[in-house]
Amino acid sequence: MPIIQTKNLSKHFGTVKAVNNLNLTIQEGEIYGLLGPNGCGKTTTIKMLCGLLKPTSGSATVFEFDSMSRKFQQDIGYMPQETALYPDLTVHDNLTIFGKIFGLSNSELARNEKELLDFINLHEKRDVPITDLSGGMRHRVSLICSMIHKPKILFLDEPTVGVDPELRLNFWKNFNELGKTGTTIIITTHYMDEASHCTKIGLMRSGDLITEGTPADILAKTNTRSLEDAFLAFTAREVA
Ligand SMILES: Nc1ncnc2c1ncn2[C@@H]1O[C@H](COP(=O)(O)OP(=O)(O)OP(=O)(O)O)[C@@H](O)[C@H]1O
Ligand SMILES: [Mg+2]
Repeated sequence: MPIIQTKNLSKHFGTVKAVNNLNLTIQEGEIYGLLGPNGCGKTTTIKMLCGLLKPTSGSATVFEFDSMSRKFQQDIGYMPQETALYPDLTVHDNLTIFGKIFGLSNSELARNEKELLDFINLHEKRDVPITDLSGGMRHRVSLICSMIHKPKILFLDEPTVGVDPELRLNFWKNFNELGKTGTTIIITTHYMDEASHCTKIGLMRSGDLITEGTPADILAKTNTRSLEDAFLAFTAREVA
């Protein structure tokens, strides 16, 4: 049984078909990369899967529940594209608020906070207000706020924007480890080197899913040697 499934999922804003008849099947433990140009519908898709945006038509099920029921809320983590933190509060305070929303005890909170600050290498900023952090650091804190309750599914909308290359690599090691322990990750990125770490990729364009498969499948379909070239090939086919 897939952990996430969509059936003809669509969202239209007036005449804009942001997402158009999307059929996705995502299995537990998968790291599913949703890729495509600006405005192709990635964020809209993620918001519908989290139950934050009502589809115009079609449906999505998450853990067998309809997405709009949000019955799975305790089991998912969502990192929005726009950082959503309390700017005047410290890193520790932000993590505490998110942890308490999900009902963590003080000891669980302390343990998870330590683990996650290790992950983003930001212990020294624990007691610093968010406003005093650099942009990349804020992004790192936003990422771990979505993970504080160790959700079974993580929705990450461009989690590595503005993060330096060494740390990005480290993030991906961690995402892959999470995948091996059964966490499912749905992630968007514009970095093709990152896409190659996904177990499956879906490429969107103008609201449509134009191809899907493992990174190796995508390369084979286009007879190219890099994902960047593969996606350019798909773009050319679309235009042709
Ligand atoms: N609330 C809204 N009202 C009207 N149009 C919207 C709204 N949200 C998104 N759109 C439109 O829907 C389309 C898809 O937007 P979306 O944010 O899903 O794209 P995206 O793939 O996440 O892009 P990016 O890579 O820039 O983050 C765009 O044309 C956008 O302008
Ligand atoms: Mg987006």
